[in-house]
Amino acid sequence: MTSTQAFWLAGRQETGEDTLDVTSPWDGRTVGTVSIPTDAQIEEAVAAAHAVKDELAATPAHVRAAALDHVTRQIAARAEEIARLISAENGKPMKWARGEVGRAVSTFRFATEETRRWGGGEGQRLDTDPGGTGRLAFSRRFPYGPVLGIAPFNFPLNLCAHKVAPALAVGAPIILKPAPATPLTALLLGELLSETDLPAGSWSVLTVPNDRMPDLTEDDRLPIISFTGSDRVGYAIQEAVPGKRVTLELGGNGAAVVLGDYASEADLDHAAQRIGAFANYQAGQSCISVQRVIADASVYERLVPKVVAAVEAQVNGDPSDDATDVGPMVSEDAAKRLESWVDEAVGAGARLLTGGKRDGASYAPTVLTDVPTDVKISCEEAFGPVVTLQRADGEEAAFAAVNDSKYGLQAGVFTHDVQSAFRAQRKLEVGGVIVGDVPSYRADQMPYGGVKRSGVGREGVRYAMQDYTYEKVMVFTGLDAL
Ligand code: SIN
Repeated sequence: MTSTQAFWLAGRQETGEDTLDVTSPWDGRTVGTVSIPTDAQIEEAVAAAHAVKDELAATPAHVRAAALDHVTRQIAARAEEIARLISAENGKPMKWARGEVGRAVSTFRFATEETRRWGGGEGQRLDTDPGGTGRLAFSRRFPYGPVLGIAPFNFPLNLCAHKVAPALAVGAPIILKPAPATPLTALLLGELLSETDLPAGSWSVLTVPNDRMPDLTEDDRLPIISFTGSDRVGYAIQEAVPGKRVTLELGGNGAAVVLGDYASEADLDHAAQRIGAFANYQAGQSCISVQRVIADASVYERLVPKVVAAVEAQVNGDPSDDATDVGPMVSEDAAKRLESWVDEAVGAGARLLTGGKRDGASYAPTVLTDVPTDVKISCEEAFGPVVTLQRADGEEAAFAAVNDSKYGLQAGVFTHDVQSAFRAQRKLEVGGVIVGDVPSYRADQMPYGGVKRSGVGREGVRYAMQDYTYEKVMVFTGLDAL
């Protein structure tokens, strides 16, 4: 029996009337029970964020940096405990959970550093036109106000970090709403924030059920919404609040392209290893996992058995075991949905080269070829351990196949040719091109986000700080000594 865990309301622990059990996707055991805030408690958190916004925005940078630095160090100090919690509530294998914790340390560290650099402003002389003689513009960025951060289940710590850290870095209060499947890690993050000197109201972690979110998203006191999750929900939020600034980090059906020059045995082994690992990491539940492999016809036949071997080498099983590469999906329903998509593809003529079996919430790493482009596993986001292989005649056809998608998050291009790399950056309709690797590479300080149905705005600490703030100019007049 676990005790009910409180949520964080304006920096202090509170309990509501209802509770939610958090269960392990691996064995169904109850990992924790969290309390759910009442409407009155949600209102209190929003009012507190609104009330503190001017004070927080004016807080000295060293105070905000010290708070972020504390969180950085405490995540590092408690890394193994946090990784175990992520693994228990999410089903993520320990090796990937440890990786996520390491990334969250970096995310908070980058935010600490950016806080010290941020907001100094930029001067611009205006006497470049006669009317501006003696005038100087001085621009600085200011927060729009409190941020509502809505986080997904697939990175229960680091994608919360990508909402919280940039908000506090610019001096914007944040209300963090974790995914219902994975609130425990977010609540632990709240514990670390509670050890800082940030003013009350600067942050809340509210375990609000999804069906009670509309009141919160529509609240005018929260002018910024930063959402990570499905395109269906993301665009529904955006349409419901047209006057707000909404950042959407949405889905993808990430493609890895293998061009004809990437042709030695060592090249193809490398590409296959990376594809095998990153089609299946976190059971494929990453927006940038490899879902589609598009290989030049000249290398395709040699690549296919290597990819199948790399996929079959993934160790499936208990996520708490250090040797496990691939654990369960987040729920049995998620695995059943994926199973139905693979069945649909096979029914439409696709060939199953390996995998295709479900056991509860676990779905075996799967490789498909000859997949029609109009079935769901081709054109929707699989968000599971399935990869499709297709051949393309030359670079142009390969890039066209990548772009034949409603999504555009990241793409990987295996090539040694720098000209091809630059053509990829120009032509691929995505937010990021990873040369010599899979689309799944993400460094937490680089701009990250999509085009098309993959969203709007960018994360990557400094880029989110820009999204949460606006430029305000002040003009000096009558300056003699410009
Ligand atoms: C995502 O799934 O959108 C995030 C991927 C990552 O941070 O690596």
